[in-house]
Amino acid sequence: MNILILSANRNLYSTRRLVTAAEERGHTVKVMNVRKSYAVLSKGELDIYYGDHKIENVDAVIPRIGASLTVYGSSMLRQFEMKHIFTPVSSLALVRSRDKLRALQILAKEGVAIPKTAVAKQPTDIESLIKIVGGAPLVVKLLEGTQGKGVVLAESKTAAKSVIEAFYGLNANILVQEFIKEAKGADVRAIVVGNKVVAAYKRQGKEGEFRSNLHSGGHGLPIKLKASEKKAAIQAAQALGLKVAGVDLLQSDRGPLILEVNSSPGLEGVERTTGIDVAGAIIEFIEENYRASKVKNRDKIGA
Ligand SMILES: Nc1ncnc2c1ncn2[C@@H]1O[C@H](COP(=O)(O)OP(=O)(O)OP(=O)(O)O)[C@@H](O)[C@H]1O
Ligand SMILES: [Mg+2]
Repeated sequence: MNILILSANRNLYSTRRLVTAAEERGHTVKVMNVRKSYAVLSKGELDIYYGDHKIENVDAVIPRIGASLTVYGSSMLRQFEMKHIFTPVSSLALVRSRDKLRALQILAKEGVAIPKTAVAKQPTDIESLIKIVGGAPLVVKLLEGTQGKGVVLAESKTAAKSVIEAFYGLNANILVQEFIKEAKGADVRAIVVGNKVVAAYKRQGKEGEFRSNLHSGGHGLPIKLKASEKKAAIQAAQALGLKVAGVDLLQSDRGPLILEVNSSPGLEGVERTTGIDVAGAIIEFIEENYRASKVKNRDKIGA
């Protein structure tokens, strides 16, 4: 197979691992910075160029597109899809997963368990909003936050009210979410490939911290998932249409609750913690499925 990885940096751990895993299996791999590529369109023709070089003979693309390039990157990915080139992460699924609200709406609609969440701009009655989500303590999240930044635990109703008001004052988009205390500062990252969980690990926040992000001092631990947790992770990835996904979940008293589904999951944390060859599992999945996209076209336009 000829595999093209859409990544800004070939030295990133995940990109390097995918290149190695593909080469070990005898495939030819190229890494392309999608920011520098361009699409050329004319009647019946959809080409992709990098410099003066037309990209041809690609069997599969693996998008590893950074959050800042979601819109442009997904349209380039769509160009490949329209040429019936296989991707485990479609442009539509990528866009869905990158919009936190849209992803939560889809998860809720598809019957995936999530923490009770409110989305609001500037409600007239903050107290009712707090009550509807279950009261304090609760978590307030800035929609554009990552790595745990912009995620605040409000322990009392008064604190919750002031945090929400402060964010409104900044005209920020926020989520207000029930606090899952019994998760004890940990969450679980499960990597779904196809319809299987191929690896999972637990991220435990440092002492006294409710956020488990590695960037805020958390660390990874191996974990064996319960059947219900595997099922929830697979259901979440499928709801968004992702064939490769990093699903974050909280272990609650009422079972697994999905926090987020990532369409370009980092491989370093999970591979180093579990010793599992996740990159190899992704390449294997592509080997088993890439031919189907050449014959199957879900609808007439395919976008
Ligand atoms: N409702 C909640 N109840 C308990 N803990 C939570 C809740 N929401 C988030 N957390 C903890 O805070 C951490 C950070 O939250 P979240 O993953 O939503 O934001 P982020 O990491 O900043 O965003 P992203 O994952 O998009 O980078 C989670 O990993 C989890 O440990
Ligand atoms: Mg997170």
